[in-house]
Amino acid sequence: MAQSSDNSLTMPRLERWIVCNNALVTFPRSPNGFEIEHLLLRVGQRGRSLAESMKLVIRKAELKDAIAAWNIRNVAILAQCTGHYPNEQLAAWTAGEITDAFIQSVARHWYVATLNESVVGTGMLDHANGQVDAVFVRPERMGTGVGHSIMAHLESRAIAAGLTLLTLNSTLNAAPFYRKCGFVGEQRGVYESSRGISLACIPMAKQLARAAVAGEQ
Ligand SMILES: CC(C)(COP(=O)(O)OP(=O)(O)OC[C@H]1O[C@@H](n2cnc3c(N)ncnc32)[C@H](O)[C@@H]1OP(=O)(O)O)[C@@H](O)C(=O)NCCC(=O)NCCS
Repeated sequence: MAQSSDNSLTMPRLERWIVCNNALVTFPRSPNGFEIEHLLLRVGQRGRSLAESMKLVIRKAELKDAIAAWNIRNVAILAQCTGHYPNEQLAAWTAGEITDAFIQSVARHWYVATLNESVVGTGMLDHANGQVDAVFVRPERMGTGVGHSIMAHLESRAIAAGLTLLTLNSTLNAAPFYRKCGFVGEQRGVYESSRGISLACIPMAKQLARAAVAGEQ
């Protein structure tokens, strides 16, 4: 989106766009292919600065993002899961050093949300089965629409990949957030982490509709 001389916002010529989770997701012609800028109409509607929201860029994660992703995972869990899980579980969940398996997973399946090129949130989508995981937002950015934008992005990627269902295991604290994103699920289950920790969770799912894609012949 461009700023015109009279300070009003004008729409750029978009190659393709879809509306997903109330966010306008654009697919500009880009040498990086999947680098997509979210125009957070939704955030603007909440009275926050649209100029600020426009700086949020969600892109495929790379190896170099792994340490930031690891740090955000740990601080997000400790900030918001506290009170929902026993302290010993939280300590075990966030203990230890970053592993090679984690780094490889970030590079393969994760996306990062960046503000002014600084990573403020993460999300994972397994394109093979529609499993969503690792939706974490830096605590100082929680409640500003970053998580919702990440979910909108993962959903748009899933739809583009032809998936019809997204599934996830929500932390006990995050189920209301996922419901706001259109996921359903009430029953408690058990999430077995890759580090062998069993955590209470709420399995949830969202059926995807084929979105209308403008500009597609
Ligand atoms: C859960 C999390 C990803 C949400 O991200 P966020 O950026 O804070 O959420 P948003 O600001 O995009 O919120 C979107 C909507 O969900 C609501 N919401 C977000 N977190 C919520 C919560 N814990 N409880 C109730 N509602 C919540 C918001 O109020 C907002 O509602 P609105 O559309 O009516 O304004 C983030 O808080 C987080 O990282 N939590 C800790 C880690 C975690 O548990 N992740 C989930 C792993 S399965």
